[in-house]
Amino acid sequence: MNLLIKNIKKLVQVEENPVKWVAGKDMANLNCIDNAYLLVKEDKIEDFGSMDNIPDFDNNDNFEYLQEIDATGRMILPSYCDSHTHLVYAGSREIEYTDKIKGLSYEEIAKRGGGILNSSKLMEQASEDELYEAALDRIKEIISLGTGAVEIKSGYGLSPETEIKMLRVIKRLKETTPITIKATFLGAHAFPAEYKNGREDEYVDLIINEMIPMVASEELADYIDVFCDKGFFTVEQTDRILNAGMKYGLRPKIHANELDYSGGIQVGVKYNALSVDHLEYVGEKEIECLKNSETMPTVLPGAAFFLNMVCSPVRDMMNAGLPVALASDFNPGSSPSGNMKFVMSLACVNYKMLPQEAINACTINTAYAMGLEKTHGSIAKGKIANFYITKEIPSIEYLPYAYGSQLVDQVILNGEII
Ligand code: NIG
Ligand code: FE
Repeated sequence: MNLLIKNIKKLVQVEENPVKWVAGKDMANLNCIDNAYLLVKEDKIEDFGSMDNIPDFDNNDNFEYLQEIDATGRMILPSYCDSHTHLVYAGSREIEYTDKIKGLSYEEIAKRGGGILNSSKLMEQASEDELYEAALDRIKEIISLGTGAVEIKSGYGLSPETEIKMLRVIKRLKETTPITIKATFLGAHAFPAEYKNGREDEYVDLIINEMIPMVASEELADYIDVFCDKGFFTVEQTDRILNAGMKYGLRPKIHANELDYSGGIQVGVKYNALSVDHLEYVGEKEIECLKNSETMPTVLPGAAFFLNMVCSPVRDMMNAGLPVALASDFNPGSSPSGNMKFVMSLACVNYKMLPQEAINACTINTAYAMGLEKTHGSIAKGKIANFYITKEIPSIEYLPYAYGSQLVDQVILNGEII
């Protein structure tokens, strides 16, 4: 389809020369065009500019069947890229939510068989169809909230068969939904109960010797993840798993430093991770390690909010010149929401990020964190036409400010109005 959108109040995050990410001070800059037009040809962004210089597309033979939208009073932003989710899951865990309100910590809940192992039990019982339908509802919801690309992890299977089941569901979602999806194998999310108390390394062997080769032979994953943190996988175990994954071409995107200074950032950077995620515990050593790396520091404000944890030192990272990305961590235990606009509000209030910084962190930087920076994450010629038209809003700051309002009016993915 060809689509021309006219009279756009503000076309946000326009790039003439697309960059791979935005870092440090530059994160506060957001290129915008006021009173703009945007032209989409098939599934790509073809052209954009000021209404003052709009070419006569209506009488141009290249643009037959040109559909028009008048966006007066409304803005356009590139779709959010949500680079860290676990949105394929069975059931829900509101009982643990109440336990947390009563004072139990995430680690205490995990120790007594709750947490990830609780979801793992439900995952084992669920059929592929049930998992697909439940995840499809979540995907439809996040699309309506402005997300146009999402990374989804396995990690509630914790056995070869069930991890493969989860990844097949993600594959089916890839094939049947308009959102761009990347799949990550997270067999190393937690130790199954039978491997706890001394048999942990046997589970690591199972991941390395059985799961990774199976995942790779069916081409079910783009990336590999390990929960490298206190009480979960050690640096040595993470090192072994990432090493094995790299041999099959699986680049790491790992959970690190959520519960302690775990060494996860360092081992991630050692294996050229695309991103290291969570990052509540980041000091000078971790920042030094991330500098001159190709690894995107990714913060998950929804999980920190929901678990009432300390905030990642986002400002220190940006002051050191690093890029920062923000993702939802959509999962049943620590962040049961994929609302990226709310993630921005949390980032602004709790991490003192400016709205402009938050927008960059949720779009171009998360696009990088899922290997999509060439095609997603900004309004640039030749990129995939994934964007949303807002309702009538006074400013871009209004988006995180009106934290509970649904402000997406129309969603366009791959050039199609959804
Ligand atoms: O990213 N931190 C580890 N894993 C998930 C939690 C998953 C769960 O509790 O089910 C997270 O927060
Ligand atoms: Fe996570």
